[in-house]
Amino acid sequence: MPRPRRILSVVGTRPNFMKVAPIAAELARRRVEFDHVLVHTGQHYDDSMSRVFLEELGVGEPDHLLEVGSGSHAQQTARVMERLEPVLLHEQPDLVLVPGDVNSTMAAALVAVKLGLPVGHIEAGLRSFDRTMPEEINRVVADSVSELLFIHSPEARANLLAEGVEPGRIHDVGNTMIDTLVAMRPRIDALGAAAAHGFEPGRYLVVTLHRPALVDGALLADALLALAKVAEALTVVFPAHPRTRTAMDALGLGALGERLHVVEPLGYLEFLSLLADSAGALTDSGGIQEETTYLGIPCFTLRDNTERPITVEMGTNTLLGLVPERIAEVPALIEQGAGRAARVPPLWEGHAAARIADVLAGARLDVAAVAGAA
Ligand code: UD1
Repeated sequence: MPRPRRILSVVGTRPNFMKVAPIAAELARRRVEFDHVLVHTGQHYDDSMSRVFLEELGVGEPDHLLEVGSGSHAQQTARVMERLEPVLLHEQPDLVLVPGDVNSTMAAALVAVKLGLPVGHIEAGLRSFDRTMPEEINRVVADSVSELLFIHSPEARANLLAEGVEPGRIHDVGNTMIDTLVAMRPRIDALGAAAAHGFEPGRYLVVTLHRPALVDGALLADALLALAKVAEALTVVFPAHPRTRTAMDALGLGALGERLHVVEPLGYLEFLSLLADSAGALTDSGGIQEETTYLGIPCFTLRDNTERPITVEMGTNTLLGLVPERIAEVPALIEQGAGRAARVPPLWEGHAAARIADVLAGARLDVAAVAGAA
């Protein structure tokens, strides 16, 4: 009998954990076929950004923790690369899996491919076509060095084909982040976070904003003022990312913090429970655009573009533009039924990880085979 295939997954940030959790569970279930090693780069390190997710999602302790922490993009990327290389040499995986589009994703993909290890990219093919976003660079680089491109929406295939990717590398498997939501749904629904916080279901707006384009410049102050206006019509709940919190502190929030219910980052279950019972979400996150589409909750995205256009075309997402003044329109847009006629995209139903495992079980896992040099 052949030995199990050793799959090594690299996570680093909050949104990575939800994408890899169902794969870790699936590979553990199929332990005759697979042996799974989990590496956490430590790009996110606060308990509220990391530990709570690993615990809630049942991922358990990573096998390796690289503790790279914060820094400039170059520093963070370089630290992941330096510290991951000896781990890959030691573990000798058959394939390295990287999810999403964060610095850890790109860094890990580069290290693996340079050691001659095949890479599988989860959430491949998404493009905002905005190269000022660090995530866009990370996506393009990770895709270009990955043998297996796991996609979850039709435009991802079109984007990859337009870049000259061989069709055989592309696998339409569905959305592993939605796998996690489906698996956790009973616990999410049982939590009743709105009531616990004293918010009336259907009468509050959940806000998350953390992108550098908004938070690291003058637009944050405008966004907060616009939110203060919204708070006159609709309760606002704002779990703030550490980066956002630091920028808010620098602005001197004063009484606004309480008016907007600015709270610490929430755990997965609590956040999703709040989201599921909300009137809508205002965000610049990628994952929340997808989660709201699945939940049928109106989403308003404060960005000029989205790498997830299917959430606008099919789902509940409205692209507001990076125009803080437009935040004031949100209560009226919700009132008018924005996003209510949405559908859930195909294969966003909870079985993406099983499909990924099937591909991993059957694929020829050597770089040359897929690169066409075999
Ligand atoms: C990163 C990702 C972004 C993703 C987001 C999810 C990149 C380029 N960006 O952005 O795509 O949407 O994660 O949250 O990889 N900090 C803490 N504690 C932590 C983590 C961060 O205090 O646990 C603070 C630090 O001040 C740090 C700042 O947040 O400098 C930014 O963290 P960083 O990992 O560089 O990027 P994010 O903004 O979190």
